[in-house]
Amino acid sequence: MTRQNIILTGFMGTGKSTIGRLLAKEIGYTFIDTDHVIEERVGKSIPQIFAEDGEEEFRRLEAELVQELADQQGLVIATGGGLVMNPENVVALEKTGKIFCLTATPEEILERVSRQPGSRPLLSERNPLLKITQLLSEREPTYKKFQQITSSRACLNEIVKKLQRSLIPN
Ligand code: S3P
Repeated sequence: MTRQNIILTGFMGTGKSTIGRLLAKEIGYTFIDTDHVIEERVGKSIPQIFAEDGEEEFRRLEAELVQELADQQGLVIATGGGLVMNPENVVALEKTGKIFCLTATPEEILERVSRQPGSRPLLSERNPLLKITQLLSEREPTYKKFQQITSSRACLNEIVKKLQRSLIPN
């Protein structure tokens, strides 16, 4: 039996890791958080990697990891929010799984990322809400290609159930 991977993407602060971890537990899959794997491998936090090695190096590490994960099955993968902007990553991930995109409003995103100050180098600007809106509109055409699941106001268990229902072929 093949166990197609389930990939959760979407903007920073849309709940990919929290929801992914719950979903994996529910269906008996292994949970992978791409940012976390990269941090472990490099031995630095994401902000440190951006500051010391640059975003380009971070994107290279993401792409390298994606190629490895695309050879495996039975995974729930929470991606970093920018990972699917590289079309090669999308092709590799879609070969062994289905990609869902979690969504939330810019205000909710700001509220959630503000709970972990300094954790999102791309948002460390004077006006993070403006940056969120700009980045979201740049990324929207890509995010829209995937099945959308809103994480706005819904409770976590509802979202996990919705994802599970989406996995049942009709
Ligand atoms: C990024 C999202 C972050 C992390 C890095 C870049 C992005 O992950 O990969 O800071 O480009 O959107 P989360 O989406 O888990 O915050």
